Amino acid sequence: MRFHGVACNARLGDLKDEEQKMSEKIPLLIDTDPGVDDALALLMAFNDARHDIVGLTIAAGNVGLQHTVRNALKLCEVAGRDDIPVFAGAPAPLLHPSPDAGYVHGQDGFGDVGFPPAARRAEAEHAALAILRLSHEHAGQLVLVALGPLTNVALALKLDPTLPQRIARFVVMGGAVTCHGNITPAAEFNFYFDPEAAHLVLEAFDRYDLADWEATIAHGLHHERVAAWLRADSARARFYDRISEKTRSWSADRRGDHWFAADALAMAFVLAPEGARELAQRPLAIELQGAHARGASIVDWRREGGQPDKANILLRYDQDRFEALIEAALAAG
Ligand code: BDR
Ligand code: CA
Repeated sequence: MRFHGVACNARLGDLKDEEQKMSEKIPLLIDTDPGVDDALALLMAFNDARHDIVGLTIAAGNVGLQHTVRNALKLCEVAGRDDIPVFAGAPAPLLHPSPDAGYVHGQDGFGDVGFPPAARRAEAEHAALAILRLSHEHAGQLVLVALGPLTNVALALKLDPTLPQRIARFVVMGGAVTCHGNITPAAEFNFYFDPEAAHLVLEAFDRYDLADWEATIAHGLHHERVAAWLRADSARARFYDRISEKTRSWSADRRGDHWFAADALAMAFVLAPEGARELAQRPLAIELQGAHARGASIVDWRREGGQPDKANILLRYDQDRFEALIEAALAAG
């Protein structure tokens, strides 16, 4: 009897452990350069019940680091998420200076609407060090997503090349997998901004998920539908409406009926990977030289070079699911 009781208690204990595991959230670390589409991706992550955001590490990219840090802090404040620590990273690419994308996102990265700065400041710890520390604190569990140039992740890797061993899943927004770029004919912005960082990082990981610019183009958001979502009665929607207005009209003038939110698609893939409808695994290299193709992501579609299939490339995602995640994120209070 006594032994039976002990066995029962042990089984109850196992069940409790199992329940606790099931209710545990997935730790999520977001490296980002906000940026209007970064902001939408962050709102999606803020609204997700299955993930726990353990930090935002901030890169320079869309605009200078002082703006991207300021924007991340402001978005957290507006969304009531001042519990999420924000870490400033590298102010410039590893090797070569690069032009920003202020003409798309506004010179301040958030549509130049003149919002007052957030009350909070960034943490004292550097983003690269925060990435390493959090990778230890959540070893084997951490999902790392990079929505900007890969400078901070490259610095972290240089300090500690064992980083990939502790990352459960690495998702990258970057590249143009058949070289239909957005910043040059062949290259996508995030990889073009810091090609050396992209090269170092993508070489270091044995496997990563990639949401590229061409997947973004295949998952456009109709402007009228976006406008309807932005009429939601929430502080998040009101703020997002203001900061995205300029870039949405810039896009409508040049790209037609649909708006393209690259980082939002990457975040849908992070939060709900089961929404992926078509994926391809291939070797991928970053072009570091070249008069026309610096920063291009060269996918070995025919596997001619004998390199491993490291990139898990998102080709098609459930559009309804993608849009539902955005709509809910904007409406959330
Ligand atoms: C990427 O570049 C940036 O402008 C966006 O924020 C996104 O991360 C798209 O090429
Ligand atoms: Ca970005």
